[in-house]
Amino acid sequence: MAAPLSIRPLHPTDAQAYQDLRLEALHGSPEAFGSSYEEEAPLPLETIKARISSSGPNTIFGAFADEALVGMAGFAVYERVKARHKGLMWGVFVRPEWRKQRVGKALVQRVIGHAARHVIMLEAAVGITNESARRTYHGLGFEPYGIERKAIRVGDQFYDEELLYLDLPGA
Ligand SMILES: CC(C)(COP(=O)(O)OP(=O)(O)OC[C@H]1O[C@@H](n2cnc3c(N)ncnc32)[C@H](O)[C@@H]1OP(=O)(O)O)[C@@H](O)C(=O)NCCC(=O)NCCS
Repeated sequence: MAAPLSIRPLHPTDAQAYQDLRLEALHGSPEAFGSSYEEEAPLPLETIKARISSSGPNTIFGAFADEALVGMAGFAVYERVKARHKGLMWGVFVRPEWRKQRVGKALVQRVIGHAARHVIMLEAAVGITNESARRTYHGLGFEPYGIERKAIRVGDQFYDEELLYLDLPGA
């Protein structure tokens, strides 16, 4: 790895870097995310700041190399009372030139460690043909429990997703 990597929760001051990386992710890997570039590109920076600084356990982690944001991964607790024991890992992305250097793994490990303090189960969804993400998640203990058919639509293409869970030691 060319530069030492650090992982930390994003602050509102990271909003511009986060929006740039998020739009790169949505544009470059549209089949990997439920949100679309078209939906998020017009969002004002204030909305992005609010997303980053949302209170409580919901957090977006960033991977930084020499202060440049090169990867990210989000965590959110399900809102409804009967689902608050579960969380979702979302928005996992590593800039292409930083892939296969264990940045994704480090981000997911950080989300797991954080999630274990707040929920008893972490969920994720991954495209069934997305080998990089499937290997990353499976390698860290996520187990498949089903397939959501046609979970994502990009233009006239449909993508199935593998649904994953990870039991956590207990919050
Ligand atoms: C998925 C993604 C985040 C992985 O990030 P990464 O930094 O390249 O992954 P890592 O280097 O940490 O690899 C983690 C593990 O997966 C394996 N892996 C990663 N990419 C792989 C690939 N293309 N082929 C085979 N194995 C791969 C690594 O060997 C490693 O396993 P190991 O620890 O047993 O050696 C990255 O490819 C990405 O941003 N993809 C586009 C967006 C995306 O698909 N996001 C996920 C949405 S669910």
